[in-house]
Amino acid sequence: MIEIIQADITTLDVDAIVNAANNSLLGGGGVDGAIHQAAGPELLEACRAIGGCPTGEARITPGFRLAARYVIHTVGPIWSGGRNREAELLTSCYKNSFRLGLEYKLRSIAFPSISTGVYGFPKDAAAALALKVMDEYEASFNRVIACCYSQADAGRYIALRSQGD
Ligand code: AR6
Repeated sequence: MIEIIQADITTLDVDAIVNAANNSLLGGGGVDGAIHQAAGPELLEACRAIGGCPTGEARITPGFRLAARYVIHTVGPIWSGGRNREAELLTSCYKNSFRLGLEYKLRSIAFPSISTGVYGFPKDAAAALALKVMDEYEASFNRVIACCYSQADAGRYIALRSQGD
């Protein structure tokens, strides 16, 4: 079963946490800032060596000072009305993150609500899309976690689930 929790993703003891990064992979605000802060400066060095990431793709680094062994960095789309492949790109973020998880034989993975902060993707649509991809990959992992920062966001995921979405 997909776990829907309210937490600071940087505190989770899982194989990988997913970061909602930007194309530079050089850090930023929101969950990205929190992850870099908690992982320490080694994370920035590792990201610098990767040299960026296109929107919809994902890259993996160690977790350094985090409890999580790895960070999977993915770059969500910036919402600009919905006609610029935003849903397709956000779906790719989740899929490509899961694919990296499988490639690294990870058993537990936690996702924030990618693109729904600064990048402005409508929250309900993003949650529905996230849960759909999570359903596809859930059987390949011991734990798949939707980590919401606010109780309201967690409630949104739980409501969608109970609607059978
Ligand atoms: N744990 C879990 N979720 C969090 C945390 C946390 N510690 N902090 C924030 N969130 P955002 P985006 C939630 O803005 O929209 C950065 O500057 C937050 O409540 O972090 O993909 C990057 O560098 C929201 O639900 O990411 C990019 O430039 C979700 O994480 C840009 O923001 C995503 O919000 C990416 O924007």
